[in-house]
Amino acid sequence: MSTPVNTEHFWMPFSANRQFKSKPRLLVAAEGMHYTTDDGRQILDGTAGLWCVNAGHGHARIVGAIQQQAARMDFAPTFQMGHPLAFEAASKLVSIAPEGMNRVFFCNDGSEGVDTALKIALAYHRVRGDGIRHRLIGRERGYHGVGFGGISVGGIAGNRKHFGPALPAVDHLRHPLNIARNAFSRGLPEHGAEMADELEQRLLALHDPSSVAAVIVEPLQGSTGVILPPKGYLQKLRAICDKYGILLIFDEVITGFGRLGTAFAADYFGVIPDMIVCAKGLTNAAVPMGAVIVKQAIHDAFMSAAPENTIEFFHGYTYSAHPLACSAAIATIDVYQEEKLFDRAAAHASHFEQAAHSLQGLPYVKDIRNLGLVCGIELESIPGKAGTRAFDVFLRCFWEKGVLIRTTGDIIALSPPLVITPAQIDHLFGAIADVLKTQ
Ligand SMILES: Cc1ncc(COP(=O)(O)O)c(C=O)c1O
Repeated sequence: MSTPVNTEHFWMPFSANRQFKSKPRLLVAAEGMHYTTDDGRQILDGTAGLWCVNAGHGHARIVGAIQQQAARMDFAPTFQMGHPLAFEAASKLVSIAPEGMNRVFFCNDGSEGVDTALKIALAYHRVRGDGIRHRLIGRERGYHGVGFGGISVGGIAGNRKHFGPALPAVDHLRHPLNIARNAFSRGLPEHGAEMADELEQRLLALHDPSSVAAVIVEPLQGSTGVILPPKGYLQKLRAICDKYGILLIFDEVITGFGRLGTAFAADYFGVIPDMIVCAKGLTNAAVPMGAVIVKQAIHDAFMSAAPENTIEFFHGYTYSAHPLACSAAIATIDVYQEEKLFDRAAAHASHFEQAAHSLQGLPYVKDIRNLGLVCGIELESIPGKAGTRAFDVFLRCFWEKGVLIRTTGDIIALSPPLVITPAQIDHLFGAIADVLKTQ
């Protein structure tokens, strides 16, 4: 038996603390596709931790890089100083980024990445003498982390309602989920590209395009239950932003690093934004790190606006480009490339899709949505008890089936490490099917 853990003092994030502490689910080790629990059970990881351990757990190359770096140099400032790994990590990230996106600002996670990108957008217009552009546009059901910028452009009521007025001058597109028209689509939904037109017809018409600095969207909305862009939707957003000189930001915190079988969702969709926010898979989650990748012209606008030898952008974190994070990022990107993990994800996507849609027709399954190695399974809610059905499936998968899934509301969201095998894909969906059949 494992030693009992005192769970009293840790206030857990985004958790039902009381429920958890009544019967803790504790993970003590991880390797490849599996976690080990404190009572010695193996748990198949259907969520890559939290959409982040794309290369699988405990990859020796990444672990080794962090260990060596910790022994060589623990920390070095990047304010008015530098260390070689910071520059190397930026170059490595650029080497897999879309063409022309070649300047990198480092931070520590997705939330900081979003706030950094929003600040770059506002400041970019200002340094160019176009400071009237101050408005930001996000999307309903968008998740952009938990900073005040992120919750402002984000569209999740629960993440906003307790925190008073957030950023002013923010508006939201409606989200494109339309189960009535697109239920059980395989891959991108056919219907709904016209939802992007409301950027021009509703929001820009209302606020005037000249007031808008940036539009931020997740190419695929992950955290609120896998909402896919209808075919042609992102292309339309890009065209409207181009027409009016508005920056387009892709929040690729979960879609980055192979989730769709390409380095970034931007590559998958063939739509290149002005900035990409990434985190999670950047270091395989072994050390926290986030980054904003920007087009060179955005960076250069800051360089040419500031007087010689002065700070061009008043923003940064003590741990921007932390040496351990940089060593992890470099090793992780090497692993992605050498093991061709993005190709592997692409190769397994159709098996994943088949397995996902084999759940159609099971009790309470209302919709199944998938793309790459992402899947959302939406269940009918129990009247008056939204979220409890899926949470129960989550608990049963963990305790009875040894499978880790994630739920949001009554939607099961799956995003396994890219190293998952076809047999493990079958096991994952088979476990969920067994649980649903006996709900
Ligand atoms: C799209 C997106 N943006 C931002 C974030 C926030 O990232 P973090 O939790 O690292 O701050 C997340 C986290 O899941 C995310 O999915």
